Amino acid sequence: MEEESKGKFSGKIGYVLATAGSAVGLGNIWRFPYMAAKYGGGMFLLVYVLLVITLGFTMVLTETTLGRKTGKSAIDAFGSLAPKAGWIGWIHAVVPCLILPYYSVIGGWVLKYFFSYLTGGGKALASDSAFTAFISSPGEPVLFFAVFIVLTALIVVKGVENGIEKASKVMMPLLVILTVIVAIFSMTRPGAGAGVKYYLVPNFSNFSFQSLLGAMGQMFYSLSISMGILVTYGSYMKKDVPLSSSVKQVIFFDTAIAFLAGLMVIPAVFAFSGGNPEALKKGPSLLFITLPKVFDSMKGIGTFMGALFFLLVFFAAITSSISLFEAVVSILRDKTGFTRKKASVIVLLWSLVIGTLTSLGFGPLASVHLLGFDLLDFFDFITNSVLMPIAAFCTCIFVSKVVGVQAIDKEVECSSPFREKKLYNGFITFLAPFFIIAILVSSVMEGLGFLAF
Ligand code: PHE
Repeated sequence: MEEESKGKFSGKIGYVLATAGSAVGLGNIWRFPYMAAKYGGGMFLLVYVLLVITLGFTMVLTETTLGRKTGKSAIDAFGSLAPKAGWIGWIHAVVPCLILPYYSVIGGWVLKYFFSYLTGGGKALASDSAFTAFISSPGEPVLFFAVFIVLTALIVVKGVENGIEKASKVMMPLLVILTVIVAIFSMTRPGAGAGVKYYLVPNFSNFSFQSLLGAMGQMFYSLSISMGILVTYGSYMKKDVPLSSSVKQVIFFDTAIAFLAGLMVIPAVFAFSGGNPEALKKGPSLLFITLPKVFDSMKGIGTFMGALFFLLVFFAAITSSISLFEAVVSILRDKTGFTRKKASVIVLLWSLVIGTLTSLGFGPLASVHLLGFDLLDFFDFITNSVLMPIAAFCTCIFVSKVVGVQAIDKEVECSSPFREKKLYNGFITFLAPFFIIAILVSSVMEGLGFLAF
């Protein structure tokens, strides 16, 4: 089969925007605000930032460097450095295959909400039953999911520089602008000040061991760690792009958007609910049930703000699904030598089948349960709570015991000085594996109902 080159990002900006595009997603906009609100506001923020600059930096740098060093996707990067460790690559590879379909189902929901606001149907979304009625119907959610995944495929098929990088260079700056506009608007609502205070001022009594684990799990998900993506994107990074400063920019971007998302969501919900913190703890339904009510209460301008908001969530979601799609395409091509087009068609078909089943899991297939979860939660549990920490743990051991930290240090240093080397070496060898085991144990117990967070 003819070998076409897999492509590269044009330079640092292309790499940073595409990787930040992967990292910034539903996790930042929907999950981060309610986690922060639940676990002590400013206290959670502080813990989160400390974790990001230590453990987060360590893990993102490791995966990116493994990718760049080997030029391979997740599946082959490990095996090409140490053939006996090739199975670690398989764990990394399975994760994006399983996340992509269900992530795109949620992407379809976002698209539907955006269209509803755009076409003046936002008011209907504010009723209590609108969301459940929508996801349990057999047609519409599948249709919007299909549009979302086809759009993702159309961008990926164009390649690394012309598809992924170009899309990220347009969508990411727009995402930042829209986020700032909506955050300012939200913070200036009457009664929003109390929400800003609730979000930013530390409440030490809410801090606990669980909140630390919650912050860690959130960070792994948000930075797309152990999902086969960072290795793949690292393999598209040119050798002269400074590694550690690029990684720092990605994690800064991701954390800044999560922080702004808190400023966008918390004050608005606070003002709407008359300062009742319970409104924020609604968790998953916050985005699709509570926020439409908030927009509905903003007479006149609500429809417009709703459309802007769901447009920015759409940008965040599709740049993430692009990275998942690309990770799977890259894996398939490494293993089979298929062209980008052929691999993309296969990934699209796979996603359409599994995603449709997942979507129907809220309607006609509602009686299907795996390990007691509905289909979407099942895929979420297996990937985020089980496979992801296992892959992360194996990666740490792989670096410290198999290839040696020096191999990573050397690759980082080939493009720029590595000032954080001591911190990095200490974390990857000693602290990261312990933290990760703690996440694994707690998230599996929580998922199976032995622990209530
Ligand atoms: N990091 C993304 C977010 O915060 C989620 C994601 C997971 C993206 C897996 C790609 C792959 O939403």
